Amino acid sequence: MRIDIITIFPDMLKNTLDESIMRRAIGLGLVEVNIIDLRDYSLSKHKKVDDTPYGGGAGMLLQFPPLYEALQAIKQANTKVLITSPRGKTFNQQMAESLSQLEHIVILAGHYEGFDERIYHFVDEEVSVGDFVLTGGEIPALLITDAVVRLLDDVIKKESHENDSFSNGLLEHPHYTKPATYQGFDVPEVLKNGNHKEIDQWRHYEALKQTYMKRPDLLKDYPLTKQDLKWLEQIKKELGETK
Ligand SMILES: C[S@@+](CC[C@H](N)C(=O)[O-])C[C@H]1O[C@@H](n2cnc3c(N)ncnc32)[C@H](O)[C@@H]1O
Repeated sequence: MRIDIITIFPDMLKNTLDESIMRRAIGLGLVEVNIIDLRDYSLSKHKKVDDTPYGGGAGMLLQFPPLYEALQAIKQANTKVLITSPRGKTFNQQMAESLSQLEHIVILAGHYEGFDERIYHFVDEEVSVGDFVLTGGEIPALLITDAVVRLLDDVIKKESHENDSFSNGLLEHPHYTKPATYQGFDVPEVLKNGNHKEIDQWRHYEALKQTYMKRPDLLKDYPLTKQDLKWLEQIKKELGETK
């Protein structure tokens, strides 16, 4: 897979891409991530890429010509072009999963007041990372790239992400590591007895409980089994909601 990020602040992205899993994935050639400086596509001799909005108003906008020229230079038949914007569809795990199946993504990182609207003729999807406004699209571009890259084959073990929150419709169960006891706080017995069936059941029960407590909206779309429904009743009792 190849991800191209178009930005006017390339340095904001470089360090993050050069750390941890992202660095490893790029180093192993499991993904190619290119940071493209929009100024390289400026039509002006001073590399200007922004200007004031028609009609007046505060702030600057990224101009249409450099955005257009950059896309023309890198877009291929199989490219999906994403634009970062608070107006877009809110990014989630399902979007990360479907993007991870693609061969080539381009992410446009905006700045100032955003983009000259004409670039939207060349965009496939407008993506928001939440109902708030950031200074620029660099952090959203990194966030999307990170969420997608960790799902690619061989980047991390499949078992490591297939039970992650949102991957199977529930939030993830709690985890514990050594020591087994510290300052009177103990690891649940079931996790130490080596009985994998019991451990899996405990984890599923706890995932249901976390989801019920923190994101009950997710349970509406989750295919609850008869056993899940019984467990949910037990969870409500445990939480003192029913007798
Ligand atoms: C200051 S914002 C512009 C906000 C724009 N004037 C508006 O009200 O929708 C500058 C850039 O940051 C990025 N950005 C800010 N908040 C974002 C969010 N929640 N999701 C995705 N991108 C965002 C976009 O690329 C945007 O063009």
